[in-house]
Amino acid sequence: MSLAVRGILGGDMRTAAVSAVIVAVLVAVCGIALMSVNGFSARSEPSAVERIVARLARRWAIPRGAANAVNPVPFSVETWAEGRAHFADHCASCHANDGSGRTTIGQNLYPKAPDMRLPPTQQLTDGELYWTIANGVRLTGMPAFGSGANDTDTWKLVHFIRRLNQLSPEQLKDMEALNPRSPAEIEEERADREFLAGQDDHKEDRK
Ligand code: HEC
Repeated sequence: MSLAVRGILGGDMRTAAVSAVIVAVLVAVCGIALMSVNGFSARSEPSAVERIVARLARRWAIPRGAANAVNPVPFSVETWAEGRAHFADHCASCHANDGSGRTTIGQNLYPKAPDMRLPPTQQLTDGELYWTIANGVRLTGMPAFGSGANDTDTWKLVHFIRRLNQLSPEQLKDMEALNPRSPAEIEEERADREFLAGQDDHKEDRK
């Protein structure tokens, strides 16, 4: 502390001033440290306000004609199967086969992949679902899948999303077989199959 300041401030005042500066610096350092720990982490949840504003902004961004569009692809058992296969291959890595969003990627994105079985997704119109799949959601992990044209495959995905709550255990199992695998995973599964087949052979021997 300079002589001039020492002259103006008494001893106690001086200590108080120094303490205030130290506290201010500490608060700033802690603030920056906290921001870099939490503020930029994809692990935190968006606040309720952020969620509501983001959803409203998205609904407003969808042109009214597109939001009111009616699914031109008639629903059938085949359409549903195609939708399941497409979803298992392209979407389940983030959204999970059952649409719950419970995957490693889906849960660690900011915002997280939503549980699409719940009302906030199911209350969207078919047109809004289609538009979201085709155009993606800016500043989120949701990519744009549309080719620009009125895409039949995307409309089949809309049928699929509408029926997430009706998926049977067998259908979910079929979807698992269609989930993308890395070459290492394919090799591991082959080795497991061989090992199990080998065990069966031994059982035969013991008979
Ligand atoms: C890389 C991860 C990822 C992939 C792959 C992905 N999504 Fe998404 N999706 C997200 C995230 C994250 C959100 C949430 C965006 C938000 O909060 O606004 C989302 C949102 C959505 C929504 C809107 C749900 C709602 O309630 O707002 C739909 C519909 C959707 N995805 C369908 C699909 C379909 C169909 C596919 C495959 C063709 C797909 N997604 C592939 C990450 C992904």
